[in-house]
Amino acid sequence: MAQIGVALIGSGGIALANHVPGLALCPEAKLVALCDTNPATLEKASAATGVKNTFAHYEEVLKRDDVHAVIVATPNFVHAPIVLAAAAAGKHILCEKPLAMDLNEAVRMYLAAEAAGVRHMTAFTYRFVPAMHYMSYLTRSGKLGKPYHFRAQRFQDWADRNLAWRQVKKLAATGELGDMLSHRIDYGHFLLGPMTRVVSQLRRFVDVRGGQPSDLDDWVGMLADFDGGATGVLESTKLATGRGEGGRSLDYCEVNGTEGSAVYYLNKPHEIQLGRAGGSGLETVQVPREFLVWPGSRRDPTLGDPIATFRYDQDVEFIDAILDKRPCRPSFLDGVRVQAVMEAVLESDREKKWVDVPQTF
Ligand SMILES: NC(=O)c1ccc[n+]([C@@H]2O[C@H](COP(=O)([O-])OP(=O)(O)OC[C@H]3O[C@@H](n4cnc5c(N)ncnc54)[C@H](O)[C@@H]3O)[C@@H](O)[C@H]2O)c1
Repeated sequence: MAQIGVALIGSGGIALANHVPGLALCPEAKLVALCDTNPATLEKASAATGVKNTFAHYEEVLKRDDVHAVIVATPNFVHAPIVLAAAAAGKHILCEKPLAMDLNEAVRMYLAAEAAGVRHMTAFTYRFVPAMHYMSYLTRSGKLGKPYHFRAQRFQDWADRNLAWRQVKKLAATGELGDMLSHRIDYGHFLLGPMTRVVSQLRRFVDVRGGQPSDLDDWVGMLADFDGGATGVLESTKLATGRGEGGRSLDYCEVNGTEGSAVYYLNKPHEIQLGRAGGSGLETVQVPREFLVWPGSRRDPTLGDPIATFRYDQDVEFIDAILDKRPCRPSFLDGVRVQAVMEAVLESDREKKWVDVPQTF
């Protein structure tokens, strides 16, 4: 194929914020079609991108020969039907997180994409933060020694604002758990490998958001054991009053190992803090040049807002994997692994006990 034709299925917030500029970094790819069930959103996306092929039904998009790959950026409840249809049509698929409504659905999506021989990727965007990528390298290469603890906090202030489909169980499945903690569960896996068991609690403090009922969690906390022996403590909330939201609110994570500790904050994406065994405290370390962009990305890390621009590298990874005929990182399998932890988190909250993470692949 001369150029990889890509369609956006779901052309709302994240499609325009992350994936359109991400694809613009890839000369080998071209955005050729837009799909959205909301005509006003479709029109806005068409005006923003200049793409004239617009569709209300994803089935029409999947019939097109000029569409080789799709980016699924719809609310969670339609990820599975779209992904299964896209795999059946032989299209490569980048799907937003959380991959599915439950583990069963996520497994079916992974198996369908594998059986179809297409590239598949889950949009765990925050792996692409330079500081997180570097921290993963330090942890995995043993520079911190044997890990003891992993810690993650995502604290935002959404007060009682409307969250649209995100506050409705039948459209989103879970609230803060899938929306924000799913990324941090993936961090844990990215840094330390699989979680094996969890104990957790979910809470909803706000029942009405923007005049509409909310039937989902706005706070979640969990303890985890990792396969390698480390412990994890993760907490995520939409109700950290006064902390703000988005990239400038708190996204923190820390690993403590026998030889050192590493600390990451999203609002400082080009640095980490390092502590060394025998040292007297944390010191700030700049992320080395080779970690400032994802391998293969032509992005200049000195341009733009660094809290936004790293997000574009996930589309570079998707397109590179298609060209190189290799698995995407992170793939649907990573999405399945996070979904398995989420399943255990929900069961632990229901049963009020530790729950083993279901074994997947
Ligand atoms: N990776 C990240 O950092 C990140 C950030 C935000 C959102 N997300 C995920 O991206 C997805 C979309 O979130 P968003 O914030 O862009 O939501 P959004 O509501 O802004 O956009 C979703 C769009 O999908 C459209 N849609 C709904 N059903 C459809 C269908 N059957 N076919 C085509 N289009 C349909 C809606 O009309 C809407 O325009 C969610 O899964 C969310 O969890 C990921």
